[in-house]
Amino acid sequence: MFEELERVNERPEPFQFYTASDLWTDEHTSKQMLSFHLNEAIDVSSRNAAFINRSVEWIVSTFNIGMGTKIADFGCGPGLYATRLAERGAGVTGIDFSERSIEYAKAVAAREQLNISYLNQNYLEFETEDRFDLVLMIMCDFCALSPAQRKGLLNKFHKILKPDGSVFLDVYSLSAFEQREETATYEVNQLNGFWSPNKYYGFLNIFKYDEEKVVLDKYTIIEPECTRQVYNWLQYFAPEDLEREFEEASFSVKGFYSDVAGTPYDRKSSEFAVIANKA
Ligand SMILES: C[S@@+](CC[C@H](N)C(=O)[O-])C[C@H]1O[C@@H](n2cnc3c(N)ncnc32)[C@H](O)[C@@H]1O
Repeated sequence: MFEELERVNERPEPFQFYTASDLWTDEHTSKQMLSFHLNEAIDVSSRNAAFINRSVEWIVSTFNIGMGTKIADFGCGPGLYATRLAERGAGVTGIDFSERSIEYAKAVAAREQLNISYLNQNYLEFETEDRFDLVLMIMCDFCALSPAQRKGLLNKFHKILKPDGSVFLDVYSLSAFEQREETATYEVNQLNGFWSPNKYYGFLNIFKYDEEKVVLDKYTIIEPECTRQVYNWLQYFAPEDLEREFEEASFSVKGFYSDVAGTPYDRKSSEFAVIANKA
């Protein structure tokens, strides 16, 4: 028991393990993730519908989206942005490793006869000969990636964008990092049964890495037959640090905003969005 608890409370190195697929593609958790995406009133998995409508309006006017604009949406989920952008004439490629979300998105696109190609794939492994006007990665998915993964992804974005193409994505801010605290909690059927349909004991250890500006939500799920650990990493950014990562991948930053609906940048905002063009 003591040794087990030592393992539960062990602090890994930043980004030591990548378990994102356990969160998004597991048979049980992906069902709940999809229902969060599709709940238009809440900001879990996807933002609420009113915000997404506002965000899409802003994206359409800022990036001049129309017939023939080619967009790649990384981590598209059930296609809440892809659908709306295709309705404005864009040709969209949506990439997501959640089969459940992609199946839902494909059914919508077929029903509405939209020009969207959905790929059920890990976006870190996505390769294509297509070239895009705009790459999107919305709802701070960039923050879940290690520095090496982010570097590889920015190089990929650079490769698949047309010469005058842009990236638009959002991240968590240092102001949000300051709000986070280290805690250790334990609960039967933690998060109302989110992790399993069966009885389990769930531990949540939140670790803060002050120097790296990283937070880990480490979940240890103990069921009768197995124990598993899910590591949800978040990198928090100062705008200048994000800008440096883009510059190292041969992008130049065109603007910062407080959110993906174009709200003017405010350092106190818990998130911020960036537009970057190929340098
Ligand atoms: C926070 S949700 C955002 C969904 C969508 N962008 C939105 O705002 O409505 C993140 C999405 O990224 C997907 N995802 C996370 N890591 C991924 C990876 N490595 N490859 C493909 N999809 C990934 C998840 O399945 C999920 O649908």
